[in-house]
Amino acid sequence: MRKKFVAGNWKMNMDAAGAKALAIGLKEELAKCQDAAKVDVAVCPPFVYLPLVAEALAGSNIGLGAQDVYTEANGAFTGEISVDMLKDVGCQFVIIGHSERRHVLGESNELINKKVIATLAADLEPIFCIGELLEESESNKTEAVLEMQIRKGLENVTAGQMAKITIAYEPVWAIGTGKTASEQQAQDAHVFTRSIVKDMFGDDVAAAVRIQYGGSVKPANAKGLMTQSDVDGALVGGAALNVEDFIGIIQGSISRGCGCNCKC
Ligand code: PGA
Repeated sequence: MRKKFVAGNWKMNMDAAGAKALAIGLKEELAKCQDAAKVDVAVCPPFVYLPLVAEALAGSNIGLGAQDVYTEANGAFTGEISVDMLKDVGCQFVIIGHSERRHVLGESNELINKKVIATLAADLEPIFCIGELLEESESNKTEAVLEMQIRKGLENVTAGQMAKITIAYEPVWAIGTGKTASEQQAQDAHVFTRSIVKDMFGDDVAAAVRIQYGGSVKPANAKGLMTQSDVDGALVGGAALNVEDFIGIIQGSISRGCGCNCKC
């Protein structure tokens, strides 16, 4: 049984005071929920707020992740951040290959693969994102796109290293648009993703790998998505910027709902 994993991608939002308040709010609300241990939770603030969010989350079970990383260990790479820097400020996770990096910043599958390899070598845990554009979805290319992104992005990763990887399926047309994939669309894409992982790494890895859904996840749709058998959590953007919404999504991911008396 795969434990659900809900991660918040804060993207380029927040100021220092807001980041701290959000982290403290999440920590306090999650502490009230007796079922919180049933789900893994992480937040991924902008680089500059990682240290203060790490400090605010101290003593909680909320993991810390970065939204990106560079491939090299150090040197003349102006503006970039290395895996060791992320470890130094307490990161456990790194989002890699998010659609905004692929399509706004122009990252290739090859660069994304290098980032995955560097992250694994540093013993950090990639949240490896895949997903098709609207026109790819409309022209029935979703599976071809996902397969290419998975095969290229995870090239040279070993079966053993796959235990450290979470895959996030995020249809680009659903990100920040308010349009969510239907439960069946999400389940189908996750089954397909798992089948490619199986082909590359075998049955055991495919059965164990966690595949998050991302794209306009909200408290109202979280439960329906999370009850799909191959949906193992969520990567949440907009709704991760609000304590109540993010907690609502976490609660929605707990099977049979939350039995305690927290705010959910
Ligand atoms: P959204 O973003 O929840 O705002 O759609 C998800 C993501 O980009 O990870």
